Amino acid sequence: MDSNKRPENMARIKTKELADAFIAEQVAAVRKQVGDKKVLLALSGGVDSSVVAALLIKAIGKQLVCVHVNHGLMRKGESEQVIEVFGKELDANLIYVDATDRFLGLLEGVSAPEQKRKIIGGEFIKVFDEEASKLEGISFLAQGTIYPDILESDGVKAHHNVGGLPEDMQFELVEPVKLLYKDEVRVVGEALGLPHGMVYRQPFPGPGLGVRCLGAITRDRLHALREADAILREEFDKNGLAGKVWQYFIAVPDMKSVGVRDDKRYEGWPAIIRAVNTTDAMTATIEEIPYALLHRITDRITHEVEGINRVLLDLTPKPIGTIEWE
Ligand code: XMP
Repeated sequence: MDSNKRPENMARIKTKELADAFIAEQVAAVRKQVGDKKVLLALSGGVDSSVVAALLIKAIGKQLVCVHVNHGLMRKGESEQVIEVFGKELDANLIYVDATDRFLGLLEGVSAPEQKRKIIGGEFIKVFDEEASKLEGISFLAQGTIYPDILESDGVKAHHNVGGLPEDMQFELVEPVKLLYKDEVRVVGEALGLPHGMVYRQPFPGPGLGVRCLGAITRDRLHALREADAILREEFDKNGLAGKVWQYFIAVPDMKSVGVRDDKRYEGWPAIIRAVNTTDAMTATIEEIPYALLHRITDRITHEVEGINRVLLDLTPKPIGTIEWE
């Protein structure tokens, strides 16, 4: 049987019972595959790698080595959550690498979107490779491949994803959720006890805030973007939009306008709100955010975030606008 093909009679995992049965089956399978050897996993904190990490911790405990690379382009609180959940609560063997300076150094002055992506993806592999080479006795590489990845590509995570790994890495793969659809991965994640917010979070591109801090990234504008994005997420959470809207975020362009703050001229960047709905990300429609909420978000961002003096709303569907600005 082709191990990359989902059996036709496999039930869609929608309940805790089905998830528990899947987990028990995979725990046994992973133990059998791995024995007493060590497994390496690039843990981004995204849904797929987090669920794989939790599953493998359950199966083989400290034989799993998780490496979390903070590229400095994470959203507010994300790396902290990885450390909290995996390092502390689940007591994982977690290596945390803060590579912010390396990434931001390489990105300095680079404004072309695809070049930014290339730098981020390439450097990620380098950092991960360096960490892997410091470890001894690793025999397996775990990956958060899911079924759509197999259906849509060559079976490994699309290479533009941060988390894509060097092709010459000589490890046998451990891919416990490769036959699952995204909704099933989430149900399994909840059954494993991962926080709801981690398992049901919106899609986040591999290059992270790097493609939302438009043009050449600077630390001050990146910081403003991260803070504004955190406010948007907090307000969407509080007002019941977080579970309803498919993807929502802030982009901050590399331009300033004139404003007034404390009776003084205040030049700042605009924060652009984008909130879209879609099923497959090929086309997208605009979420109608209530005006009262838009006013509240504008008020908070312009008062709480250093460097932002206007808030704009992007009303462009896809097509013609892509979801991301870059
Ligand atoms: P676009 O902007 O092409 O985005 O309409 C469609 C979906 O893909 C995500 N996206 C990316 N994901 N690496 C990723 O892992 C990338 O370079 C990248 N670019 C866009 C985007 O967030 C949206 O969900």
